[in-house]
Amino acid sequence: VREPDLAGRHVVVSAGGTREPLDPVRFLGNRSSGKQGYALARTAAARGARVTLVAANASMPDPAGVDVVRVGTAVELREAMLRAAADADAVVMAAAVADFRPATYATGKIKKKDDQDPAPIALVRNPDILAEISTARARSGQVVVGFAAETDDVLANGRAKLKRKGCDLLVVNEVGERKTFGSEENEAVVLGADGSETPVAHGPKEALADTVWDLVAARLE
Ligand code: PMT
Repeated sequence: VREPDLAGRHVVVSAGGTREPLDPVRFLGNRSSGKQGYALARTAAARGARVTLVAANASMPDPAGVDVVRVGTAVELREAMLRAAADADAVVMAAAVADFRPATYATGKIKKKDDQDPAPIALVRNPDILAEISTARARSGQVVVGFAAETDDVLANGRAKLKRKGCDLLVVNEVGERKTFGSEENEAVVLGADGSETPVAHGPKEALADTVWDLVAARLE
């Protein structure tokens, strides 16, 4: 049993993947299952925190003792995160958020016309929630953590992303078999804005989550 080192703290975690609707039956989405975010929520609750989990399209049941807010799109995720972050000691963005959404939404199902080429899908930019929360810092001393799933130049891309987003910690995980999207397991390097690098060996998503909370707890003290 762990020490309740997050007792008296409010932490907010996002999980899952946003879906950006094109029409009533179609969306642009990604392969996030929500497992990493749920592992973060469960482990924080086990360490005594009050936990708000903002879940985007995850199919898992609500973890015991966690406040769950369910959302669909990036815009809905932003609203729920900003509301919950207002009094949070720490915010962790494990969700995979669409950078762009379709510029228009068709209220009726888009029909295929046999004599026409498919119409291109015009996109507009979604808000960058992590950058906004990092910049705004609803509370002084609030610790903000981002995630980055990368396929190439993993660490270099992670370091650049950490700077661009302005968060305190960035968990860099490489996309691959038996890790990241959909897997029960993960492996990562946690980059700190202070230049620290904490490698986390391949293992259950809870183990990575506990390392994240160790690093957060050290920054809250
Ligand atoms: O859900 P699982 O199946 O368990 O998989 C876990 C995971 C692979 C989704 C997770 O470990 C992970 O890496 N999440 C981040 C995915 C990602 O690639 O994020 P990104 O590089 O697009 O964004 C970087 C950071 O900015 C993330 O913290 C993201 O939440 C945030 N972001 C991104 C875009 C945007 N418009 N707003 C944001 O806040």
